[in-house]
Amino acid sequence: MIECKNLTKDYGPIRAVNDVSFKVEPGQVLGFLGPNGAGKSTTMRMLTGFLTPTSGTASIAGFDVREQPVEAKSRFGYLPENGPLYPEMTVLEFLTFCGEIRGLSGNKLKAAIDRVIELCSLLGVRHQTIETLSKGFRQRVGMAQAIIHDPDALIMDEPTDGLDPNQKQTVRQLIRSMSEKKAIILSTHILEEVDAVCNRVIIIARGHVLVDESPAELHARHPLAGAVTVVPAASTNTAALHEKISQIKEFSKVQIQNGSILVIPKKATNAMTELIKLQKNQNLEIAELQPVRTRLDDVFRELTLPKTIESENTTN
Ligand SMILES: Nc1ncnc2c1ncn2[C@@H]1O[C@H](COP(=O)(O)OP(=O)(O)O)[C@@H](O)[C@H]1O
Ligand SMILES: [Mg+2]
Repeated sequence: MIECKNLTKDYGPIRAVNDVSFKVEPGQVLGFLGPNGAGKSTTMRMLTGFLTPTSGTASIAGFDVREQPVEAKSRFGYLPENGPLYPEMTVLEFLTFCGEIRGLSGNKLKAAIDRVIELCSLLGVRHQTIETLSKGFRQRVGMAQAIIHDPDALIMDEPTDGLDPNQKQTVRQLIRSMSEKKAIILSTHILEEVDAVCNRVIIIARGHVLVDESPAELHARHPLAGAVTVVPAASTNTAALHEKISQIKEFSKVQIQNGSILVIPKKATNAMTELIKLQKNQNLEIAELQPVRTRLDDVFRELTLPKTIESENTTN
């Protein structure tokens, strides 16, 4: 549905996007992640035909966005960064205007407006001018214009940026509710967004795609992925317990840490299952088994920060 091939963009001497290729199909919600300046907005502007690539192509539903812009543009909705709106228009006027641009009229236009007002919870503010709306409502107006023609593809640049936690929640719910039938790309630098709404992640840094995988695979990159903290029962000798757990060859690391035992499994091993088996078979005195919660932030940092080894090499 959404496809880009070898997209590259130079701003003068700066290569903002470097050879980016991917496809997004209906049912996929792609989180487009990256630090500030990574090239997310530039990629999205090229995908939507708002910016001419230095090289490479983008197409929506098989239509090249540069060569068949009308066909391509009728099939996607776009929420740009800091969604530009007409502040002096009321919500209803603005949505009518956007619907008309999309070729809707009469009953179809009315039905489309009613649908997006309902979906984006804008009923109470439909007669208000956009300049009087809070950021959360404005963002939902931006979303409403992006989906007024019920597009098959939806491209959103930082849709939850600057929203409070409740507003973020509402917008995420809205995205989830649309995800079944549409191909969706949303850029974000908020990692929790990935767990909340995405089923695929691309991480881009300095214009390059570093990772293209599922959120689960991204979590699995964490050095503590699947780790479990074993809390010994009060009466137990921790060192003896550590000794017993260390015998298990499916664990890559077993170490005592603050009176508990941290167990890191080898890949493809479920540490929790192994530990429960061990506890049963050997009657170990364990008070608690706690799964270690890993944060995508750590994975993201590890992937996107320039490697110290590189800078070491250059100083040598
Ligand atoms: N119009 C422009 N002119 C020159 N450089 C730009 C322009 N827009 C973006 N850049 C540069 O391109 C790089 C990528 O920017 P952008 O795509 O906005 O990143 P992101 O959306 O990931 O924060 C940055 O280094 C940015 O400074
Ligand atoms: Mg941006």
